Amino acid sequence: MACCPHCQEADSLFNQRDARQRLRRYQRRGPEGTTKVLLAALRAAGVSGASVLDIGGGVGVLHHELLRSGAVSAVDVDASSAYLAAAREESTRQGHLEHVRYLYGDFVALAPELAPASIVTLDRVVCCYPAMPALVGAAAARAERLLGLVYPRDVWWVRAGVRAVNLAFAAQRSAFRLFCHPTAAVDAIVRQAGLTQCFAAYRGPWQIVLYTRD
Ligand SMILES: C[S@@+](CC[C@H](N)C(=O)[O-])C[C@H]1O[C@@H](n2cnc3c(N)ncnc32)[C@H](O)[C@@H]1O
Repeated sequence: MACCPHCQEADSLFNQRDARQRLRRYQRRGPEGTTKVLLAALRAAGVSGASVLDIGGGVGVLHHELLRSGAVSAVDVDASSAYLAAAREESTRQGHLEHVRYLYGDFVALAPELAPASIVTLDRVVCCYPAMPALVGAAAARAERLLGLVYPRDVWWVRAGVRAVNLAFAAQRSAFRLFCHPTAAVDAIVRQAGLTQCFAAYRGPWQIVLYTRD
């Protein structure tokens, strides 16, 4: 079972049908959108020999691609059992299953058991979690070299969009909610963990940022 009510909602929202669609799209088109931008930034910073902690990895695009680019191992922690199954299936197809550990549950609850990794990623996960300081703090504490984040821009029109999406969730009687956490608060938590920003880009409502411990 996922550990918190919010992760239980994530488990039903990110379901098998959604996972199949996302996996098929990745197999047809490769990495897209913000994930592609984050991947390029990570590759430019160097991924050879890296261990990866992919938090909320979805169907695993980031860790599949990083393993293909020279990373040596990955841990994917996800609150969606359907996404985890799809990521594992793709690892088998790409021939790197033996290098990946898949863990089901809330990363914040599981974090004390997880070893640090050279690269830690949170690709469109911060927007799914209410307790941002716990999530980002635990991720940053485990990033030995690089921390990559994709999360909503802190501007009025994104906040308005998030409110509209949450109204739609409420109308469908879903308890799932999106969150537009303040950029300054996210940034402060990462910097407190000893990381400095080395890359930032914007795509529509998203910001893609990379921090380094170098
Ligand atoms: C919007 S999807 C993004 C998936 C993938 N990273 C991508 O960008 O395509 C959010 C993912 O984060 C996972 N997630 C949300 N909160 C989580 C938590 N506290 N611990 C682990 N996974 C979480 C969800 O189950 C889902 O797989």
